[in-house]
Amino acid sequence: MTGRRFTGDTLVIASHNKGKVREIALLLSAYVAHFPSAGDLGLPEPEETEASFIGNAALKARAAASGAKLPALADDSGLVVPALGGAPGIYSARWAGPNKDFSLAIDRVQQELGKGDRAAHFICALALAWPDGYAETVEGRVDGRLVFPGRGERGFGYDPIFIPNGHDITFAEMDPNDKHRMSHRADAFAQLVQRCFG
Ligand code: IMP
Repeated sequence: MTGRRFTGDTLVIASHNKGKVREIALLLSAYVAHFPSAGDLGLPEPEETEASFIGNAALKARAAASGAKLPALADDSGLVVPALGGAPGIYSARWAGPNKDFSLAIDRVQQELGKGDRAAHFICALALAWPDGYAETVEGRVDGRLVFPGRGERGFGYDPIFIPNGHDITFAEMDPNDKHRMSHRADAFAQLVQRCFG
C-alpha cells in the first residue's frame, strides 16, 4: 500500500534515546541524508497519553513535526501477553521501574501469568508525521512464547524470556543479526519503507 511519500532530505527522529536514534538513522540511511533528533533540536518529550502503540507513536511524531516544522518519525514498542489482557503492552518500559530493571519486569510477568498461556508477541508501531498534522502509521509484529527463567545475555528488555515461533532459543540467545531480520522492528520498517520511502 502506498501512502504519502517522504521527499526532502531531513527527517527528525522523535526520540531522546541516542541508541534508538542511531539505529533508526542506520535503517533509513539509503533514503534520508540528515537525521536530527528531538533531543538535538531541544524539543520537549510529550507524555505518552494514548491507549495504543500506534496512538503513542503518532502523538510523539506529530509533536516533533510541528515543533521542528519538518517531517518526524517516532516509534512505540512493547511486549503483549494476551493471557494478561495485553499487559505489559504500552507499559512495557514502565514495568521495569525508575531504574529500568528488567529483571523486575520479567518477575512480574512470570508472577501474574502463573500457569496461564505463554503465547506472546512484540509490537513495534512507527509513525511518520508532517508539520500539517498528517501521519502515516504501521505496526510490525513477531509472535512467540514466553520461557521462565530467562535465557541469554545478548538482548535487552524482555528478550531473555521471548522465543520467536519456529525457533527454540530466546531473542537474548540469538545472534543479534538474526533477531534484527525477524523482529517486530524489522517488520515495521519494511512496511514503512514500502509505503513512504524508496
Ligand atoms: P519504548 O522505547 O518506549 O517504545 O519502550 C519499549 C519497551 O518495550 C522497551 O523498554 C522494552 O522493555 C520493550 N521492548 C521493545 N522492543 C523490545 C525488544 O526487541 N526486545 C525486548 N524488549 C523490547
